Amino acid sequence: MPDFNKLFDEWAKSYDKTVYGTDNEYVEVFQNYEDILKYISDEVADKNGIIVEIGVGTGNLTKLLYEKNLNVVGIEPSKEMRKIAKEKLPNIDILDGHFLSIPIDKKVDAIVTSYAFHHLTYDEKKKALEYLDKKLNNNGKIVIADTMFESIEYKKNLLKYVELNECFNLLNDLKTEYYELLDDLCVLFKELNYSYSLKKMNKYVWVISAVKGGY
Ligand SMILES: C[S@@+](CC[C@H](N)C(=O)[O-])C[C@H]1O[C@@H](n2cnc3c(N)ncnc32)[C@H](O)[C@@H]1O
Repeated sequence: MPDFNKLFDEWAKSYDKTVYGTDNEYVEVFQNYEDILKYISDEVADKNGIIVEIGVGTGNLTKLLYEKNLNVVGIEPSKEMRKIAKEKLPNIDILDGHFLSIPIDKKVDAIVTSYAFHHLTYDEKKKALEYLDKKLNNNGKIVIADTMFESIEYKKNLLKYVELNECFNLLNDLKTEYYELLDDLCVLFKELNYSYSLKKMNKYVWVISAVKGGY
């Protein structure tokens, strides 16, 4: 698995400035950030059991889940990100782990993640979903928010737009990280017998909400 820890350890202190819109290159990626986190939290608001959040970063979604009195446990591989999340949320367990290593023995009711799934290659995503499926109770939900593309054409046009706007860091991310076509991710859920719904949140980000055993 590619190791993003160094990058995120370095980004941890300024991460909240990026997501709340002070980094011009990424403004549109994080457009409606709070609405995206709220949408995810609403999707799992009926769950009484454990909700695992993977790749919590500085804990912004974790905080929202906690404020809804949900039983959330955070997973985060970057030490510096964990430190900031723990400062914000001293009452929540934020554990060292990642998409393929969740140090929780019990089955859980939901698994949520925002802006993190693209760190896995497609094969790793497939393995991760199979692994997470084993941790999830029947009728449990997986909710993933991330940049995804509705078609190859859409991706091509978006890359052109990003280049024209001279957002070269973003362009590099879009070319080198593992952003998927929506259809390719949906196939993985179908194979695992999940039903799913899709919602577009901005030019980049979609949310997939998938229910176990619903297909
Ligand atoms: C862009 S941040 C998103 C943080 C937060 N979820 C949010 O929405 O603001 C991506 C996070 O994913 C974490 N991450 C990177 N690779 C990961 C992996 N393989 N498994 C879980 N988390 C990972 C990073 O350490 C980082 O905290």
